[in-house]
Amino acid sequence: MTKLNATITAVGGYVPEFVLTNKILESMVETNDQWIVSRTGIKERRILKGNELGSSFLAINAAKDLIAKKNIDPTTIDLVIVATATPDMQAASTASYTATQIGAINAFSFDMDAACSSFLFGMSVAARYIESGAYKKVLLIGADKNSSMIDYTDRATCIIFGDGAGAVLFEPNKEGLGMQDEILKTDGKGRDFLKVKSGGSCRPTDEEAIKNGDQFIRQDGKTVFKNAVFNMADVSTKILKRNNLNKEDIQWLAAHQANQRIIDATANRLELSKSQVMVNIEKYGNTTSATIPLLLYDYESKLKKGDKIVFAAFGGGFSWGSIYFKWSYNNN
Ligand code: UT7
Repeated sequence: MTKLNATITAVGGYVPEFVLTNKILESMVETNDQWIVSRTGIKERRILKGNELGSSFLAINAAKDLIAKKNIDPTTIDLVIVATATPDMQAASTASYTATQIGAINAFSFDMDAACSSFLFGMSVAARYIESGAYKKVLLIGADKNSSMIDYTDRATCIIFGDGAGAVLFEPNKEGLGMQDEILKTDGKGRDFLKVKSGGSCRPTDEEAIKNGDQFIRQDGKTVFKNAVFNMADVSTKILKRNNLNKEDIQWLAAHQANQRIIDATANRLELSKSQVMVNIEKYGNTTSATIPLLLYDYESKLKKGDKIVFAAFGGGFSWGSIYFKWSYNNN
């Protein structure tokens, strides 16, 4: 029997209209465009405005873009996974609301969270459902409204994060294209270096928490930076070696967009040239679960059937990993 591979057959994306430029940030905190660009590579990010709009709003729009582009009947979708670190609310899943709103009425759905590695780990989950043979269409959406947890007086975090969503459709492939290999890792010793302290089950957001600003994301940037550089490069080099791949064999590196310097360090370790590296951090900043699908959204027209892609991510938890993937269509 031919092995069933899981591959991506469609891509969609959505970013909100409001553009938060470095210039605007200069009027909000003590920072400047030159510092932000040289230390992070970010020029602007998108912010979702509007009452009671959450990550589902971003997810729904990205999914609708994918459905319209490829003329997909949403009732044929079997499963909707929303990878997000900023779900709409506790207890009621963002994915079930999203699935219903896009007309995926025959699908089951769930959220998954591994911070900035959510989408990468989601690719692994989506692939297993396809490879089992039980499901034919799995919609994986990475969506985050990071602005909901940002303290816009904290220059260490507010310059980095933005809002956005990207969606991909996973389907079976019998030509051996799609998911090839993966190395996924977590280390709970990292959890104090990047977190939102209150609002979860450990600690509700009470008056004391609000007084301390514990409802906002805080990070020890230097420690996160060092761990991201080491670990993303480590798993990416290992996955190349394990698959007997040289730098010339790889067409693309699609790495989580957290900091241009982290992306460069990973690319340098793999000895890749600039033309092999997908980058859009300058436009969107760090959109957590949405960075990788937004890269695919922006680069889809350049991708060719058979292109070998190394995906890599690092995030809170800590969580990180790398996936080796063969692209399966030309975008004509
Ligand atoms: O997806 C995973 C999530 N997060 C990450 O991957 C983030 C990883 N970390 C980073 O990207 C970087 O650590 C940051 C961009 C957050 C910070 O860059 P850095 O090069 O590590 O700067 P730093 O924190 O060491 O600060 C250097 C200097 C400090 O001043 P002094 O002490 O040298 O006088 C900071 O106070 O830069 C100052 N600084 C700023 N200056 C202007 C820190 N933030 C800013 C700012 N504007 N926004």
